[in-house]
Amino acid sequence: MDLFEHEARDLFEKHGVPVPRGRVAADPGGARAAAAAWGGPVVVKAQVKTGGRGKAGGVRVVPTADDAEQAADDILGMDIKGHTVHRVLVTEAGEIAEEYYVSFLLDRAARTFLAMASVEGGTDIEEVAASRPDALVRVPVNPLDGVDAASVAAAFPAGVRAEAAEVVEKLWAVFVAEDCTLVEVNPLASTPAGIVALDGKITLDDNAAFRRSASFDEASGSEALEREARAKGLNYVKLDGDIGVIGNGAGLVMSTLDVVAAAAAEAGARGPANFLDIGVVRLDGNNVTEGRRILAEAAHPLVTVVATMDDAAREAAKLAIAEG
Ligand SMILES: Nc1ncnc2c1ncn2[C@@H]1O[C@H](COP(=O)(O)OP(=O)(O)OP(=O)(O)O)[C@@H](O)[C@H]1O
Ligand SMILES: [Mg+2]
Repeated sequence: MDLFEHEARDLFEKHGVPVPRGRVAADPGGARAAAAAWGGPVVVKAQVKTGGRGKAGGVRVVPTADDAEQAADDILGMDIKGHTVHRVLVTEAGEIAEEYYVSFLLDRAARTFLAMASVEGGTDIEEVAASRPDALVRVPVNPLDGVDAASVAAAFPAGVRAEAAEVVEKLWAVFVAEDCTLVEVNPLASTPAGIVALDGKITLDDNAAFRRSASFDEASGSEALEREARAKGLNYVKLDGDIGVIGNGAGLVMSTLDVVAAAAAEAGARGPANFLDIGVVRLDGNNVTEGRRILAEAAHPLVTVVATMDDAAREAAKLAIAEG
């Protein structure tokens, strides 16, 4: 389960990771009150479980409590990639000298944990990884030995390394103690007050849910849908595109997502809207001719029969564009 930024922030605070003061508000008045209590500039941040909030206008640095109220008024109710903003996090604005990146994650391919760090924080880390892989330091973490924090902090300038190493150590403590599969800080900022985690993303390991006493807020739009599907015994994951995908068998659904995404990209449509593993039909193999005859005779207005999986993906992309 992904946490909201403010929940990640609270877990950081619990484990001694430096974070700015912060308060959650569900209305503009609450944002004003937080800003007025601290004085000075604040950051008003949309609380949605998706990335790229800044680019979508969901993160605003403002100088006064009046402006904080206005910013909250603008941001609350905003739609960011299909997620409606119900709350904002108001935090003290730090004076940022530099923005770094640091994360811990489960590296399934290597069957271990991995720490990543970069001086190029603040921006899209996938972009850094793709265009300048050298700017991203990767340190495997043996769960029994813990993290070699100095090796991770070696990614950062000499002047902040010792302090950053302490923060890295504490972030690993969060990862272990809270049963995480991802702990990401972007940016980890160097400020006159020291190293501060200004944005946090945490994914909790659902397999450890039984030993978790704290409850986290699942009330984001997509997770409500996912819970409803789970209650019905369906395996559903909300994605950002427009094309609904229903398949039987996780492997087949994954392949379908791939061909649909490729066909959508080619046609200029947005990709899959979801992953849904259910019992429906992809007809192939034994009795395929008979099956197709039955489908054709049913002549359902919403069912188009095509010959191959690629044809189906192209048809879906075409329909997505036609439906706008
Ligand atoms: N407390 C703060 N003080 C000063 N600047 C901040 C603070 N919090 C965020 N910022 C600035 O805003 C930028 C974007 O903030 P943040 O990383 O939280 O959102 P984002 O990266 O756009 O969202 P997401 O992580 O969802 O993609 C930061 O890189 C930083 O420059
Ligand atoms: Mg960020």
